[in-house]
Order: sequence, then C-alpha cells, then structure tokens
Amino acid sequence: MDLTIAQISDIHVGQINFLPEKLDAAIDEINSLDPDLVILSGDITMMGFKDEYIEAKKYVDKIDKRVLVIPGNHDVRYMGHIYFQKYFGRREWVHKFSDELCIIGLDTSLPDLDEGSLGRGKQKWLRRKLNGISNSCCKIVVMHHHLVPVPMTGRERAVLSDAGDVLDILTQGGVDLCLSGHRHTPYAWIVNNTAVVTAGSTSTKKVRATINQSYNIIRLTDEHIRVEKKDVSGDKKLMAEYNKIKGKNYVITKS
Ligand SMILES: [Fe+2]
Ligand SMILES: [Fe+2]
Repeated sequence: MDLTIAQISDIHVGQINFLPEKLDAAIDEINSLDPDLVILSGDITMMGFKDEYIEAKKYVDKIDKRVLVIPGNHDVRYMGHIYFQKYFGRREWVHKFSDELCIIGLDTSLPDLDEGSLGRGKQKWLRRKLNGISNSCCKIVVMHHHLVPVPMTGRERAVLSDAGDVLDILTQGGVDLCLSGHRHTPYAWIVNNTAVVTAGSTSTKKVRATINQSYNIIRLTDEHIRVEKKDVSGDKKLMAEYNKIKGKNYVITKS
C-alpha cells in the first residue's frame, strides 16, 4: 500500500470570516498534489443554511479526486443536517478500499450545540464494526470533534463528551489513525497505537495567533503513517511519523 490522503477541514463557507482565496489556493495545491483521496472533516458551512451548502458544494466539486465528507457542529445548525444529506450524502459511512484500507466517517454533532458526542448506540456499532475488520487492514476513523485536547486553543470547551469511551473503542479496535477538525489547530498525538490527528481550518480567519490556514497531508504505506501540516500557500511541517505494524514501537519524530 502506498496512498496519499489530503485532509481539509473547517472551511466555513458563508461565514463573514470565510477566505475564498485560501480555499481556492488549497484546492489548486491539492489538485497538483494528486492524492488518492480527500477527506473533509466537517464545519463546511457557518450556519447550516441552504445557500452556504450550495456554495460549499461548488468548491468541493473543484477537487479532482473523490472527497469523503462528514458534518461538523456548524453544519447541523438550523436543521442543516437535511441540506448536508441533500448536497453531500450520508452523514456516516464506511468506505473500504480493497483489503488494505477502511475509512469510517462518523457524525458527532448534536442539534444546535457546539459540543459533540458519539453516544452509546453508535459506540456499540463502531466497536462491532472495528472488530469485524482485520488488523492487517489500515483503519481510519474520521469525526469532527477532537478526542484529545489540542494545545494552543485556549480554554478547552468541546472535546467529545464521551471521548474516553470512544478513545477506548478506537485503541482497542486497532484504529491506526483518527482524523478530526473543530479546533482550527493542527496537531498530532499518539495514544497507545492510534494516531489522533486534528486539522487546522483551511479557509477561515478564525485561527489562533500564529497559526495559519492549513490542511494535512497523510501518507500511508504498509509500515508507516506520516502526517504533515501544509500551510495554504506556505510551508510544510512534519507532525508525526510512526511505524504502524502492531507490536512495534510508535515514534513521533516531531509534533
Ligand atoms: Fe470550525
Ligand atoms: Fe466545529
């Protein structure tokens, strides 16, 4: 296996702070990179309004490769989940790419709340699903809300409310990589054998201090996962690189 995934997040189309030139630049860069697929980890819109979804869809359609999308807390405001389904399809999904890679997308949003939760029903479903996939297959889970607090984000308010239970399911279930957004700050933790990665915002002014608009580039091989943060129109930085073969030590080379 040798796959490249680009992760964009929190594009917030429709927001007063939305930066269309950043999103266009990121899309151009990603199209030039020519990854195997693209993941959009939620907060596509600001208020979940129909016109925001229509505009966001136009941007996503400019991406040459397949884009897997999940909703964030902003996307379900004002019953926006109805438009999410209309323009982007299912809010939760399982995509298998041969026997080598399985990606599970989850909806952790709650109606009109910034906080997120997976909930007991979906926890049970996720545990069963992961147990049914061989550990020789690379397992990736995508959810908007972060599982582990992220540095440089000020007061922590919105880690997934059942983060402990979900983290337990992911680590026990042999998940190699969990991708989130929400805090508009790129970071990577390794928890047991699972990399827990957050993406920055690709195209809103609402980023913190010295943090720029960015997206993540993830390289998967049979033995390694490498996660880089790429500033839009700027530099690349290695966030984590580690061996993912079960039983071997995982090493963060940089964070
Ligand atoms: Fe956001
Ligand atoms: Fe969010």
